[in-house]
Amino acid sequence: MLGFPCLLWLLAVTFSLVPRVHPLAPEDFGEEEEDETPRSPLPAVLCDYDRCRHLQVPCRELQRASPRACLCPGLSSPLQPPSPPRLGEVHVVAEEGSAIVHWCAPSSPVHQYWLLLGEGSEAPQKGPPLNSTIRRAELKGLKPGVAYVVCVVAANAAGESSLPGAGGEGPEGTGGPTFGPCGRLAVPPRPRSLVHAAVGVGTALALLSCGALVWHFCLRQRCGCPRRTQPAARPVERL
Ligand SMILES: *[C@@H]1O[C@H](CO)[C@@H](O)[C@H](O)[C@H]1NC(C)=O
Repeated sequence: MLGFPCLLWLLAVTFSLVPRVHPLAPEDFGEEEEDETPRSPLPAVLCDYDRCRHLQVPCRELQRASPRACLCPGLSSPLQPPSPPRLGEVHVVAEEGSAIVHWCAPSSPVHQYWLLLGEGSEAPQKGPPLNSTIRRAELKGLKPGVAYVVCVVAANAAGESSLPGAGGEGPEGTGGPTFGPCGRLAVPPRPRSLVHAAVGVGTALALLSCGALVWHFCLRQRCGCPRRTQPAARPVERL
């Protein structure tokens, strides 16, 4: 007898819930449509600009040349010196004593770049000026077995980008990968000197083993007699 009221109650609850679910769905769609409508008129397309790409045309020029409106990353004021560029991959070619350095542009107007190369504690040498599209340069005449500090500097009409600490002590102190304008560059020793070292170690090992062999045979000649007599002596003891 209690089952009927329960069933009726359940049916009432389910039917009262179903109409509530349906009106929610159109509301949701309505909200999404409202969200989409203000987005479409905006030029949400980013310009094909990569701050790390070599020979990258400045984004403002891309904007001017492009038939469709596109967005550029924000830049600092041209009345301020540029922010420091970020040094990227440094590829050392030990056999040629050269290295290829990559970097990424800062979010600032840049007129030119140059590299600074320092050997140990010596004052860093300034490289030739490079135009604002350049993101890669080759360093030549590097000495084998020497560690250098390389920095990339950006400049515009207002001045040049700053360098960390005095003489790049910051990146040298940490020893890890750097995210600033400077990095360390270690040229491995010449392959020839490695061959010399290998020959030296090999000769030393050969001399050592010869010495050990000679010593072993000398000992055998002196103390060889007891070894031969021992097997003969044991049967005598057993008998
Ligand atoms: C920048 O320098 C590179 C290499 O020297 C050259 O190919 C390029 O045309 C120059 N770009 C401008 C805008 O001067």
